[in-house]
This record gives sequence, structure tokens and C-alpha cells, in this order.
Amino acid sequence: MPESDDPEPNGGGSQKPDGTKKHKTGGKPREPIKAVRGVRDITPDERAIWRVAEHAAKRVAHRYGYREIETPLIEPRELIERGVGEGTDAASKELYRFEDRGGREIALRPEATAGIVRAYFDHGLNQGPQPARLYLIGPMFRYDRPQKGRYRQFFQFDVEAIGGPSAALDAEVIEVARAWLVDVGLNDLRLELNTIGDQKCRPAYLELLRKYYRPLKSQLHKECQERLEVNPLRLLDCKVPQCQPFKDGAPRMTDHLCDECEAAWTLVRRLLDAAGIGYQLNPYLVRGLDYYTRTVFEFYPASASGQQDALASGGRYDGLAADIGQPDAPGVGFAGGLDRVTELMTAEGEEVVSEPAAEVIVLPDGDLAAEAAEVARVTRSVRSAAVDYEPRSLRAKMRAADRLGARWAVIFNKDEAARRVAQLKDMASGEQVEVGWDELPARLS
Ligand code: HAM
Repeated sequence: MPESDDPEPNGGGSQKPDGTKKHKTGGKPREPIKAVRGVRDITPDERAIWRVAEHAAKRVAHRYGYREIETPLIEPRELIERGVGEGTDAASKELYRFEDRGGREIALRPEATAGIVRAYFDHGLNQGPQPARLYLIGPMFRYDRPQKGRYRQFFQFDVEAIGGPSAALDAEVIEVARAWLVDVGLNDLRLELNTIGDQKCRPAYLELLRKYYRPLKSQLHKECQERLEVNPLRLLDCKVPQCQPFKDGAPRMTDHLCDECEAAWTLVRRLLDAAGIGYQLNPYLVRGLDYYTRTVFEFYPASASGQQDALASGGRYDGLAADIGQPDAPGVGFAGGLDRVTELMTAEGEEVVSEPAAEVIVLPDGDLAAEAAEVARVTRSVRSAAVDYEPRSLRAKMRAADRLGARWAVIFNKDEAARRVAQLKDMASGEQVEVGWDELPARLS
């Protein structure tokens, strides 16, 4: 994988020492090995807020009748390239790909939709009741330039309704996305909405777009000049200042829809209105993946200015199944970014009490590992329990137990162990009573 844009701040052997302690291996100084650039750990404390977002996702998905599916993190490279489109950033510049030991071309999934549509056919879900309503929560991989809210491994809550042509499903998945964001406390949202037509009406529209932009070509930035003939739709969502003045006069897809697309476009908006879901029409919203047809949408924090990344986004993809060599199957869905959503939840002061590692901490005072393990085992029939095996003073163990946030400590010394009793201490009130080991479950439940 080329690293042209990437001076590795953390890794790499040639880098200068950064002041951290060096380990010696075979007499040679070694830098501590850090995580790969653009990926991150989610610590147990951070996981608390992630759990809230994941539980909300599952709850909302189930409320709307969506069932969980898991698909592999690795897929045939061709599936991704044909699915999201070979010319897209996700399938070209940003794709993590490799040849496996059997010589197969593999990609780490950059998104979930293509894999889920593959699985829909592989497991006969196309033969069951339609549409198949499915959701997935898991990591995706894109070799994007890392920055806040944009990572090389990131997590999506992905929702798909496959096998249903009705635009009512477009409104439904928009409602699911919104319900999830509201459920995690993000009420202040802006929904942007557009239609990009279908195979019937879009080609003629794209020609109009090319005709409009061709005389302006020299005034566009380099990438847009290249896009003009290949993928003119992307000219509309270009953010480079020099390309902005021309957008206003560009023809709009909504003025060139075929009858079917027009009807779908009307229905989606009517259903959103009926559901009380506000939206802004954005004629420049076209999305970065090739498989979209008709409805496309993105949710932003209401306060966000134009450059901010979307919290959740999606649309209809009626041509995707055929693109990956399957019979036609219409579909619509979205994916929400868990990294961005949890970051915003944290920024907005969402209070999450992170769970203690264990409710009970067993503190042997002395060399009593086997006895402590036994006490913990007894306790675990009713409460989570951990043992402090460290060879340190009881005082130090009490301080550590406090930091862990355990509700009770079970303390005993050699004499007490001989009598099979312990001091059961309520960490909040400080109250302490002597109890027999066998009584612990009754006392703690
Ligand atoms: P997407 O817009 O590429 O669409 O990604 C969906 C969401 O994933 C984004 O709105 C964002 O919240 C999050 N996301 C994307 N890239 C990153 C990144 N590098 N770091 C952190 N978060 C990121 C799709 O993936 C489509 N498969 C959505 C879809 C499902 N369309 C139909 N069905």
C-alpha cells in the first residue's frame, strides 16, 4: 500500500525517538510498536457510549422489523469493484486489497451494501418474503486521509431493504436512520434529500450536464475536468471553490425525471411530510458510490456547515444486484457512522456511566491466591467478581478497589481464611460485616 501522503508519526523504523521509553531486544534499541495509522482503539470507558449507540441501533432496527446479518470483512475484490463502482474512491484509491495465499484477489469491505446484497442471493433470502429487511453493525475499511471523524477502520450501522421497489421503503429507511439518531439524543438534525434518476432518464440528463460543463472545462479544477466525461454527476458535489460558481446554472436531475422516477420522488416526499420528517432538497447531493438510483439522502448535525461529514447516508440502488451478476433486485438502505455519532454524543455531553469491571472485588490480605479464587468462584453465582492478586498492602488494594468502582469488597486474612469467613464491605457506605464464604451468594443477591 503506497504511503505517499503519509509521514508515519507513530511507526516506522527510521523515525526519531519521541521520548518514549525504548525496549531492548537483542541489544538493539526498539521503538514501541503503535497502532496502524488511521485506526484506533476503543477503550473500555469509551465502549460505554458505543454500547449505547449500538443498543439503540439494534432496538430501532428491530422496532421496524429488520433482522441482523453478519457478512465477512473480506470479500472478492471484484464484488466491491463492480458493486460500488470501479471509478469511485472507495473502490480505487481507498480500497484495502491483497492477494491471499491461494492467489485470490481479496478486498477488505469499504462498505456493507455490496456484501449484504451478495449474501441475500447466496442464502436464498430473495426467495423469502420481500423485501428482506436486514441490518449489520461492523467495521469497514477505507484508505482515506485520516482526520477527526474519518478513519481507515470505522464502524457502520447499516440498514438495507432488499427486494422491494416501492419508494415507501425509501421513506422507511430514512425514518429508521432518523429514529436511531434521535434515540441516541441527536435531535438537531438536517436531512438533505435528492433524486438522481435511474438508467432510463439519467443518461440523457448526464449528456445535458456534459453539454453544460464542456465550455467551462478550463475553469474547473483538475479532478473535475477529468470527471466531466467519465462521471459528470460528481461535478455537482465538488467542494473546490473555483467550481462553485457554475453549479447554479447547471441542469437539475429533478427537471428531467422519467415518469416512474417522478412518481417515486413525489411519493418519498409525501411520506416524509406525512411522517413529520423535515428535509432540505439539495440538487447537488449525488453520493460517492456508483450504485445509487433515485432517492439519495444524508443526515448532518443541524449546526454543521457544508464541509462537515454526514452522520448517516444512503439511498436506493436498484441496479446493484445486476452489477454483481445477480438477477435484478431493487434495494434501498443507509449506513450510519458509529464513530461520528459517538463523537457527537460525547461532544453534546451524553452522560454514560461506564460499568465497573466487576461488582465485587475479592481482596486477600496475604498469600492466599487459591482461597481468593475460591471466594470469587462462589460469589460469581450471583455477582461479577474479580480478585486482586497483586502482592501489595491491603491499603493499596482498597484504593485500587475504589478506583475500579466495585460495589463490594470481600476481604480476608489467613486466620479468616482458616475459618472460611471474610469481611464483606459495602464500598459506598463503608459498612462492614463478617460473613461465611458460603453465605456470600445470599448476602449479595
Ligand atoms: P457512505 O456515505 O460511504 O455510504 O458511508 C455511510 C456513513 O459511514 C457516512 O455517512 C459516515 O457517517 C460513515 N463513514 C464513511 N466513511 C467513514 C470514515 N472513513 N470514517 C468514519 N466514518 C465514515 C455507504 O457506505 C453506503 N453503503 C450506505 C448505504 C447503505 N447506501 C445504501 N445502503
